[in-house]
Amino acid sequence: MPVHDELPLTEQSTPTDAQTLLHPSPHADRLAESHVPKGLNSAVITGTGFYMPEKVLTNADLEKMVDTSDEWIIERTGIKERRIARPEQAASDLALEAARRALNDAHTRPSELDLILVATVTGDMLFPSTACLLQDRLGAPKVGAMDVSAGCTGFIYALDTARQHIATGAARTVLVVGVEVLSRITDWTDRGTCVLLGDGSGAAVVKQSEHKHVGIVAGVLGADGSRGVDLYMPGGGSRHPATEETLRKRMHYLKMNGNAIFKVAVRSMAQTVTQLLDKIGAKPEDIKLLIPHQANLRIIEAVAKQLHFSMDRVFVNIQKYANTSSATTIIALDEARKTGLIGPGDLTMLVAFGAGLTWGGVAIRW
Ligand code: ACO
Repeated sequence: MPVHDELPLTEQSTPTDAQTLLHPSPHADRLAESHVPKGLNSAVITGTGFYMPEKVLTNADLEKMVDTSDEWIIERTGIKERRIARPEQAASDLALEAARRALNDAHTRPSELDLILVATVTGDMLFPSTACLLQDRLGAPKVGAMDVSAGCTGFIYALDTARQHIATGAARTVLVVGVEVLSRITDWTDRGTCVLLGDGSGAAVVKQSEHKHVGIVAGVLGADGSRGVDLYMPGGGSRHPATEETLRKRMHYLKMNGNAIFKVAVRSMAQTVTQLLDKIGAKPEDIKLLIPHQANLRIIEAVAKQLHFSMDRVFVNIQKYANTSSATTIIALDEARKTGLIGPGDLTMLVAFGAGLTWGGVAIRW
């Protein structure tokens, strides 16, 4: 069933100047749904890794920058601290560290890669893509390399794209990275957004496997472009290229309608889990660990409640890293794997929502 039939996403946010700036298309409901057809290759995650910049920015630090408090941030979001990249670090620097760790974990050399996908909204520059920069720095072969832009759902979109390339035999070994340097597009005078965001990167190596019972067994992708205005960065693209005016109007920073996003986040992630369960014929109790996008602890708890999940089966690390957009789910997956929370035979789900608006999830059997 199309996602837009299930998601009551029709309510509109209050029209603002932002809508004029973004020019969203009026009928952008869209479903992109996919799974590995029988008889094709399965795609297995053979290694993961993540890298966080060393600098920690605590809630106490933020109290000195904007009118906020540690108590408010913890109570409303669950976040205690976040990491901030050094001034000289860009997305490809963070991506390189995470990619090396994932490749080591997978006992895979860069020379074995035949596709590189990087999910990000804060690449080093508009072009060339961060994936191309990463290919060069890894010393990988001259294979396909591209960035995937789907906001916080980016890693899921990229992982599902890797799955499809592997399923059809177009690729055997794919590097998938989620990386953000959100501190560069954060308005540090806006307390409604700056307390939520952080920098970080994670990576996974996905390989073709003949073991059909394991791997990424299903994927669900969705988007609703009519809601793009709820989470966007107006300046810097072809609509509003950089000018003195765009700088003065602070258009090169992330803008967000937090309350509207909150509701869509809960609905879309809960429905994505249900759709994934339907696709693979499983029940909620079959999921060993749910790994949701780390945007707000209250969103995660609301998703768990809708699904009748106890929180001990839901992975949370938002307190340490805040929202690193497309990097959160892969960072969380690596932490969950390395702390022994996932074992052979376990079913896990990664689920996210983000700018676009987008949402999506993958079911993985280990
Ligand atoms: N410190 C203190 N007070 C604050 C802060 C802050 N940092 N931020 C907002 N407030 C105030 C507001 O001004 C408001 O005050 P008022 O009642 O006097 O007007 C009050 O707190 C309540 O504001 P709400 O917006 O209703 O607070 P809410 O509980 O909804 O929390 C939040 C806001 C945390 C933004 C929440 O809506 C949320 O998490 N939304 C989803 C955000 C998200 O997931 N975005 C997507 C990811 S971002 C990305 O993609 C990179």
